[in-house]
Amino acid sequence: MKGIILAGGSGTRLYPLTRALSKQLLPVYDKPMIYYPLSTLMLGGIREVLIISTPTDLPAFRRVLGDGSDLGLQLQYAVQPRPAGIADAFRVGAAFVGRDPVTLILGDNIFYGQGLALLLRRAVREVTGCALFGYTVADPHRYGVAETDADGRLTRIVEKPADPRSSEAITGLYVYTNDVLEIARGILPSHRGELEITDVNQVYVNEGRATLHSLGRGYAWLDAGTYDGLLSASQFVQAIQHRQGIPIACLEEIALRMGYIDARTCRALGERHAHSPYGQYVLAAAPIGASA
Ligand code: DAU
Repeated sequence: MKGIILAGGSGTRLYPLTRALSKQLLPVYDKPMIYYPLSTLMLGGIREVLIISTPTDLPAFRRVLGDGSDLGLQLQYAVQPRPAGIADAFRVGAAFVGRDPVTLILGDNIFYGQGLALLLRRAVREVTGCALFGYTVADPHRYGVAETDADGRLTRIVEKPADPRSSEAITGLYVYTNDVLEIARGILPSHRGELEITDVNQVYVNEGRATLHSLGRGYAWLDAGTYDGLLSASQFVQAIQHRQGIPIACLEEIALRMGYIDARTCRALGERHAHSPYGQYVLAAAPIGASA
């Protein structure tokens, strides 16, 4: 399973914060936003990841994350010349995906909750079309919205409906079989001039090959796309980390727990940033005496 993080776009809703910095590199409390979606993919067992961004911003992502080998990952980078739509990720990333299935996550989507890793790993193992993740929100008109029949089966997804028929938003985490490349090639741009991910997903719904996993009350799906959303996401991460003393989206800790790196490597990574609380988290994840 390959992974793609789509981290382009113009970030106009966060202007002037995004004047010099990509939205997906803005801080969410103590780390750049992209750490969160990358941690989700890592927890899903996905180690080969393509990061797509604008020609201007891509070098900054490379500076932040490198080739991923420190974390036992293989990270690659690709440019999306203009924001041609979320489904354009499958055109930009076609060579990277090759013949494999692929999970796409939007670079501004933050997920948190026990069980998400298992749920994603199962979806990755079992997908026979597409697996989508739904979340109940108070403002569904801002998202792709799921409509289901009496048996809870997905019948339709409507992008930003003026009059939503349900409050279940489709989140920005999508697991696909390899034919998504062909489906994305076949769709036409919407009235916004973009290749819509909802149109891709609707093809799977029509073929009866889309599964909707509803993320219940135990999960957080945070939107960091507005000033308030960004601040709330930071406050959420701060509150949980302070209360539990356990970091969210600490990539080195996840790499260690997933067996991508050993304890010695984890300690070495922590020592590089030992003056910051983040570095101390990393060190604490692999205490001296833990098996290498
Ligand atoms: O966050 C979940 C929602 O994401 C879904 O419920 C919607 O169905 C889906 O269309 C999308 O809605 P957004 O309004 O959030 O889409 P937006 O155009 O803002 O793009 C989402 C992120 O993807 C954004 O951070 C920038 C990035 N992006 C977007 C486009 C269109 C790119 O990198 N390239 C693009 O061409």
